[in-house]
Amino acid sequence: MAQKLVVGNWKLNGSLAANDALLGGCVALVGVDMAVCVPFPYLAQVGSCLTGMALGAQTVSEFQSGAYTGEVSAEMLAEVGCRYVIVGHSERRTLFGENNVTVGRKTVAALRAGLVPIVCVGESLAEREAGQVMEVIGRQLDAVRECIGVQGLSRTVIAYEPVWAIGTGRAASADEAQEVHAGIRRWLAEHGAPAEEIRILYGGSVKADNAEALFAMPDVDGGLIGGASLVARDFMAICQAAMANGGG
Ligand code: PGA
Repeated sequence: MAQKLVVGNWKLNGSLAANDALLGGCVALVGVDMAVCVPFPYLAQVGSCLTGMALGAQTVSEFQSGAYTGEVSAEMLAEVGCRYVIVGHSERRTLFGENNVTVGRKTVAALRAGLVPIVCVGESLAEREAGQVMEVIGRQLDAVRECIGVQGLSRTVIAYEPVWAIGTGRAASADEAQEVHAGIRRWLAEHGAPAEEIRILYGGSVKADNAEALFAMPDVDGGLIGGASLVARDFMAICQAAMANGGG
């Protein structure tokens, strides 16, 4: 893998003033790819002041245009400068009724518009305790593969986000993350995808003090960062850790 990718997921946070202050403390680093996925209304503001960092959104409609009140299409996101879009985040799956089928369709929409979908997968605590981690993730990946094929998979980024680690302060250990990332890479290879070229990010309570250990793992190609991406100093420290472990 050339260099790592660190993506901030701002979730439902921000204001014009707060975004300015946050971005004022962030600088693009050489040797790591950086991106921020921001709420729709702030795409223009954030896009206009990013230099050396990519812009992304946090979800996308499966539809291209028409009578779908409240939806935002992938083409619209591309037109306003997005490179990435997160699809299938566990908060969208559990709070907003998304499932493997809709996630597949959204991934199709993103690719159609030339966006890079960041496809989120991950197990709940109950599923982990039942020993079903790769079974659950395999189903999530399969639903996407059925929609976009192996060719499509090669144009995605996968984010492994164990549900029990998101926003809880309890990140997966570096070894736990590595084990699942290796499993995902194996799954990709077994299904004929160019597994070594597909980035697999880890997300779930990544902080400045655990980023280094996570990014040192051979199959962890970067991170999807929630809470810590809202504090410039923390986000930059995480990006520095990714830079120091680039080429993993
Ligand atoms: P967190 O969120 O870093 O706040 O745990 C990660 C995510 O939901 O993408």
